[in-house]
Amino acid sequence: MNFVTQLLHLVGSGAVAYISARNIRDSRTRPNTLAAFQLAESGSVPFLTSLSERAAAEGDSWLAQMLALHAADERRHGNIFAQALKQWDKEVIDFKSLPKPAENKGEKPKRSPFFAAYFDGYDAEFFKPDKIEWPVFMASTYILELDASTDFARMANVLPDDDLRCRNLKKGMLSIASDETRHAAYLYEAMERRFSAREVENLVDEWRTRKVNALLAMVGNFVKGGGNPNLVKDGVPVDVSGENSSELKAA
Ligand SMILES: [Fe+2]
Ligand SMILES: [Fe+2]
Repeated sequence: MNFVTQLLHLVGSGAVAYISARNIRDSRTRPNTLAAFQLAESGSVPFLTSLSERAAAEGDSWLAQMLALHAADERRHGNIFAQALKQWDKEVIDFKSLPKPAENKGEKPKRSPFFAAYFDGYDAEFFKPDKIEWPVFMASTYILELDASTDFARMANVLPDDDLRCRNLKKGMLSIASDETRHAAYLYEAMERRFSAREVENLVDEWRTRKVNALLAMVGNFVKGGGNPNLVKDGVPVDVSGENSSELKAA
């Protein structure tokens, strides 16, 4: 990574840390933030599971096992956020009730500015688990997991301690942060098992640069006032001290 990229990385990460800390601390924006995390974490499970099966079919049982564990962790992370939302009597909206893209005036679903910039040059077809190239998957996911671990820990630490629901969420998010560190570590090892030290360095450099550009695109969109869609609806109230919060307590 060159010096300018390094500087921009710090600026971009600082800005995103500020935005995400603000969104999770503010009780008005918190539900939507938690819903976005729930969808992102749970949404990765089928992809990781298919990749695990592909690795097994290709004879890499080590990678297959790591990916299966990764999928199980992400499922748990999705549940932690779902449980947290329930504490605030919210749940993720039912997407089946929304108009399908075809009925939606023929508009294509928009990619987030972040992912459009991060995966610039790759079309959606490339991201099928049977198509994606291993070095692209490993390096792009390594960078995201590495940064997610610090981002989740930072967000956990801005939650107020005087509210039981926030304390539950904080505990859950800190456990997620430590899983993300483990994910980054196995992905780095996966690259080392397949590629030379120089190739690993180049891959990490390329995806760090892409992440910086993606962060800046996201911050630019935020500054322009590009809001997030509403992802939550009112749910069934739960007793936060009761057994329903076991997932968060156990985390
Ligand atoms: Fe996760
Ligand atoms: Fe992860």
